[in-house]
Amino acid sequence: MNPRAPRGSAAALPTPAQVAASPLARYRPLLDDWDAFAAALCRPLPTCVWAQPARISVGDLANLLAEEGIAAYSVPWLPGALRLPEETRAGQHWWYCAGLAHAQETVSQLPALLLDLVPGQRVLDLCAAPGGKTAQIALALDNRGTLIANDISTARIKALQGNLDRLGIVNCTTTCTDGANWPAAGGQFDRILVDAPCSSEGTLRRNPSLIGRFDPGAPARLAPRQRALLRKAVQRLKPGGRLVYSTCTFAPEENELTVADILAEYPAAVRVVPATLPGVITAPGLTHWAGRDLPADLTHCLRIWPHHNDSGGFFIAVLEKDAGTAAGPEPEPAGLDPADGDAWLPELAAHYGLPHDYWAGFRAHRQTRRGLHLMAADHHPPAWPKAEGSGLFFHRTNCRPPKPTTGAAMVFGPLATRCRIALTLGQRDHYLRREQFDPTHDQLSANPPGQVLVTYRGQVLGVAVLHRSGVIESLFPSRWSGCTGGGVVQGLETDDDFAPAL
Ligand SMILES: C[S@@+](CC[C@H](N)C(=O)[O-])C[C@H]1O[C@@H](n2cnc3c(N)ncnc32)[C@H](O)[C@@H]1O
Repeated sequence: MNPRAPRGSAAALPTPAQVAASPLARYRPLLDDWDAFAAALCRPLPTCVWAQPARISVGDLANLLAEEGIAAYSVPWLPGALRLPEETRAGQHWWYCAGLAHAQETVSQLPALLLDLVPGQRVLDLCAAPGGKTAQIALALDNRGTLIANDISTARIKALQGNLDRLGIVNCTTTCTDGANWPAAGGQFDRILVDAPCSSEGTLRRNPSLIGRFDPGAPARLAPRQRALLRKAVQRLKPGGRLVYSTCTFAPEENELTVADILAEYPAAVRVVPATLPGVITAPGLTHWAGRDLPADLTHCLRIWPHHNDSGGFFIAVLEKDAGTAAGPEPEPAGLDPADGDAWLPELAAHYGLPHDYWAGFRAHRQTRRGLHLMAADHHPPAWPKAEGSGLFFHRTNCRPPKPTTGAAMVFGPLATRCRIALTLGQRDHYLRREQFDPTHDQLSANPPGQVLVTYRGQVLGVAVLHRSGVIESLFPSRWSGCTGGGVVQGLETDDDFAPAL
């Protein structure tokens, strides 16, 4: 094993000499502490997770991790997050499978904080996959209302949906379209995030092989696509709305120059507003680059250099649209099929002993023949662009007997009063590996044969079948089955595992 290779990567970390010889050398004039910058890029990046606040507080997560032998420590400028020892593969642990946490690099968590989110806003995440920021937004909206997460890549939308299901998100519709052509029929939004595809220079600590692959032509090549995405976001923003444009690159062509071009196209409609991130060391946006003077307001943009906060690199601009601009048309609502939701949900509530009014905050709809999706009652997806999915795939009704999904079990399970088995450590590992196992005498006598929820340390892991023959069959999803206590090589993909998408 290469001692300089960071967690999960075969590539060696670069040396300061390699950084100095790379295309990053053009940023030397922007930094009076170049050596510290280059040294930071040669250190691996600590894993970072945030707690799913509806399921566990960050303090309780830290205690749970300590009991699991993981020495997590807090990040002073990111109160909901914990840094983990470098070698930790979060996606291999049971608490990750149980949707208690999400792995996301510290700086990658910052753009969503600047959206100034409150429940009730209609929000668009234009370049959303694999979805760390989408999940942050969904939870900041209190898992209610209407969030649309779009990405151009079908494969990446699938990964995003997996993350949202694991975290119990019910206020999000996913769409798969070119964000630069987001249709006017989709309506306008109070908040839009454009976390643009970029040359990813700021992810070098996570993807060290990039050092030999930086293409000096990439920023100029990517800028038109970034401009097109930002332009469309300006058009789809409601009067008085706020949008955040972010990249994980240092390249001014993809950052200040892109923002400057859009400001020039919409001089009366949008402006860059000051943004502060308490406790985070940031540098102002550039107002001069490569012989071009840029608007003075670009100093309000934030540059985050890796050596200032022991993080990756990021660029963030916050733009607001003038309240006096003309509003666009209201979106046409999607026609959802509520058909048989009313029939299935009471049955599920009766089986698991849920409170009689449990479903009041939700609505179910049939999106495919496989079963029902569950959405927040006030989630209203537009008819266009056509949704990949609205809400959480919840109840499989094309099998006998019908089965709630693992994501569903983690949503309603905490309030279940019947058919619920607390697993031992050994049973937990059998369950997560999809193996059959024996119940204890007490488990057997307390539950009738049939479907049961399984929990570990009070947290819902999913669904199983207690057979009349006296064995428990795991219904844990096969694609998640690398998750165990932490001792296996495969596991859930985390955002950290995703290659940068250019
Ligand atoms: C930096 S990543 C987004 C990361 C994501 N916001 C997160 O926090 O997990 C950029 C994403 O933009 C997507 N993308 C590239 N071109 C696009 C386009 N024209 N429209 C929409 N998405 C696009 C890529 O597939 C990629 O998933």
